[in-house]
This record gives sequence, structure tokens and C-alpha cells, in this order.
Amino acid sequence: MASTEELARTERSTLQEMARRHLWMHFTKMGSYDDEHEIPIITRGEGCYVYDEHGKRYLDALSALFCVNIGHGRADIAQAGADQAKDLGFYTNWTYAHPPAIELAARIADLAPGDLNRVFFTSGGSEAVESAIKLARQYHKVTGNPNKTKVIAREIAYHGTTLGALSATGIASLKTPFEPTTPGMYHVPNTNTFRLPRGLDATQLADTVAEKIEFLGPDTVAAVIMEPVQNAGGSFVPPEGYWQRVREICNEYNVLLISDEVICAWGRLGEWFGGFKYDYVPDLITTAKGITSSYAPMGCVIASDRVADPFVNGDASFMHGLTFGGHPVASAVAMANIDALESEGVIENVRANQDLFRSKLETLLELPIVGDVRGTGYFYALELVPDKNSDAQFTDEQSEVLLRGFLSGELYRNGLICRADDRGDPVVQLSPPLISGPEQFDEIVSILRPVLTQAGEMMQARG
Ligand SMILES: Cc1ncc(COP(=O)(O)O)c(C=O)c1O
Repeated sequence: MASTEELARTERSTLQEMARRHLWMHFTKMGSYDDEHEIPIITRGEGCYVYDEHGKRYLDALSALFCVNIGHGRADIAQAGADQAKDLGFYTNWTYAHPPAIELAARIADLAPGDLNRVFFTSGGSEAVESAIKLARQYHKVTGNPNKTKVIAREIAYHGTTLGALSATGIASLKTPFEPTTPGMYHVPNTNTFRLPRGLDATQLADTVAEKIEFLGPDTVAAVIMEPVQNAGGSFVPPEGYWQRVREICNEYNVLLISDEVICAWGRLGEWFGGFKYDYVPDLITTAKGITSSYAPMGCVIASDRVADPFVNGDASFMHGLTFGGHPVASAVAMANIDALESEGVIENVRANQDLFRSKLETLLELPIVGDVRGTGYFYALELVPDKNSDAQFTDEQSEVLLRGFLSGELYRNGLICRADDRGDPVVQLSPPLISGPEQFDEIVSILRPVLTQAGEMMQARG
């Protein structure tokens, strides 16, 4: 007779079996999947919704991972990749060029702010950040400032996982397993105005960058990297004037300003790029994800004419390359995606609906567990607190119970994909496809309200 365990095994799908046996999932406690906890296997998507292997529908209020901006299931975008693969499946940007990468670079230059006219392609966001840091260092070396190597990022910010990008990342728990990380990365306070760091007031936050540069020695600092709106910690928007002041500081100290827009570009904030929202022009933009709406993996660094100049008009060559940077299939997909974002008024959809999105989410402030609703565009976070009438915060252990022990699973069971995260304080992050509107906002709130109510009661009961 088969044991209970064997019976459970035979009832599991072959995909579950294979995933458990062979797939190494990212940032996942793989041992947590047992007979009661299936690996969520998503098999198809359509618009704002995805379906699992049992055919159950979910509202994808995270755009997979802040990246399927145009929505799921676009045959035309897939077709653009297939057509390109037939003509030229692959060629490289190492010494050679090909039409899809050339045309895409020109299109991006046209959309980017200021004189950011030169595009270095990568396969994703970490590689873009890694490339920008290397470019900043080499730029200073070839322009006579060989000691300018240090990079300043912000606390709790996520800039990726490859060793260089990981060093810029300001989340200790992601770094300690891999130490030593790349040296020369430093952090300043982020723009968490819900809990202002170290007694600062919001108008002083940008100046912490100048203080750090002075402390490190202006001749040693190559770049500052920050997101237009910081994701990790939960959609920290910049206070009024913040970006202008950081730009001023970078100019004053000849430090390159890198705007990490792996999430924030391509309409997420209701603009093509963050600089249009907050009125600044960086020296470098790093981006990925929404560039193709993630129908193909791609990222890039967009460089200003000033930064590109020594490499274009001088003798220097950027000593860096990635086999798949500017992959023709990904480039064709990106072009089709950008065409669709433009011709279908997708960014205008965000602008038209963003206030409604915010006001719907703000109704959740009625719940004692929701301490703050913050963000902009289609990029929001709800911060969860034990009691919003006090300054109390959940402990790490309480966060674990609340987020991974309850919320993540319960929201998913109720058909909502979002992210319950505590890389800073515990937050629920929402970042729906840019084609979503009032119907999806209502659905998000109608699932969040009872689940968060239950979560609040559960945490109260635990004490
Ligand atoms: C701001 C930022 N930079 C870099 C990265 C790393 O991108 P990737 O996961 O494509 O390597 C991310 C990923 O979410 C990000 O949000």
C-alpha cells in the first residue's frame, strides 16, 4: 500500500515534481514547499491577469516583478521577436552592429532626457548597474581623475545582485552571505519621510550626499546612484527639490549622477523616465524590465554626450562587454513594446488614472494596520504597523509571521499577486500593469481590505 507521502506525491503535477527536484528558484526558501504548500506555477497571462497550472486566475498587481508594463499575452510583441529571429537570430555589439540595436538605441536617445544620447545594452538591470559603475570609474580615469572610484548609494536601496551592483545595494541581509563585496560603495539616508532617518528633516536629505562626498574626499568619488522613487523600503518618493539639489551637488564635485530606472522608466511613474517627473537630467540612466515589458530580457545604460565623449571622440574604449547586450531579438521586442506604449497611450493611461489609484489605496488607511500609503504613478506601497496611533513597529519576528507566515500566501490564495516585503519596514508593494484602470484598482482593494483586516486582528491577538 502506498504511504500518505507517496499518495501526495502522485497527486502532485509533474511540473510540481520537476520544479521541486530540479529548479533553483531565486530568493526562495525552497525547503518551505511541502504537501500543503505548492510552488506557484504560472502558465499563461492575459492583460492584467495570469493563470496558474490549475487554471486559477490572479490579478497581477506586481506586473510580475515591476516589469510587464504593457500587460501579458501580447501576441504582436512576441511576433516582433519571432520575425527578427528568422532574419538574424543573433549577432553581437562587440565591434559589430546590427539594425535592431542601432534603431533601438536611436529611439531610446530620442525618448531620454537632455543629452543622454548613447546607449550601452545589457541583458538586465544588475548588469546595467554594474556597467554604469564601471563606466563612471573609467570615465574619471580617462578624464584625468584616476582616484575617483567611490560610489554613493542610499540605505535599503536595491540595485541588483551581481557583486558590484550588490555593493551598491543598501540591504545588509542581501550582502552578508557574500562578503567581501566590491569595495568603494557607501550609503546615505534614503527619502523615507514616513520615518525620517536620524532626526533629519526632509529638506536636509539631499545634503547628506554632499556631506558624504566631503567625508570621503571629493577627489575619490566617482558617482552617486539612486532611483527616482526608491523601491526597496516601499516607494520612497523624493521630497520637493531633492533631485535638483543632488544634481547641483554632483555638478559641484564632478561626480556622475546615475538615475537607476530599472523599475521607474517606461511609464511606471507616468513618464518615460524619472527625470521628466522630477525635473532633472542625470549623467547616466540604468534601465531594464519595462524596456521590453519583459517579453525578452534586456537592460541598458544611457549615457550623456559628455560621458560618452572620451570614448567616442578620444582614444578610449570602454573595456567592458556582455555577449547578449543588444540582442537582436530583445531589441526588436523592445521596439515593438515602445511602439505599443506610445501608440496605445499607455503612459497617458497612467497619468489619467494615477490619482484614482492613490485615492482607492488611501481608503485602506482606515485599517489600523495600514500606517502609510506612499508612491506615485502606478508604483505604491502600504506600510504595515502594529498600531498607527503609536510609533511602534513590527519586530523582525512579527514581520516574518505577518508577511511570509500569512499575507503572501493569503493574498495569493485570494487571487492577488503583489509583494509583501520587509527589506526595510514591512510593506505591501503594488505595481500593476500600466494598462490597468478602475476595475483592477477596485479588485486590488477588495482583496486587500479583508486580508489586511484579518492580518491586523491576527497580530493583535498574538500581542
Ligand atoms: C532599481 C533596480 N536596480 C537594479 C535591479 C536589478 O535588476 P535585475 O534583477 O534585472 O538584474 C533592480 C531589480 O529589481 C532594481 O529594482
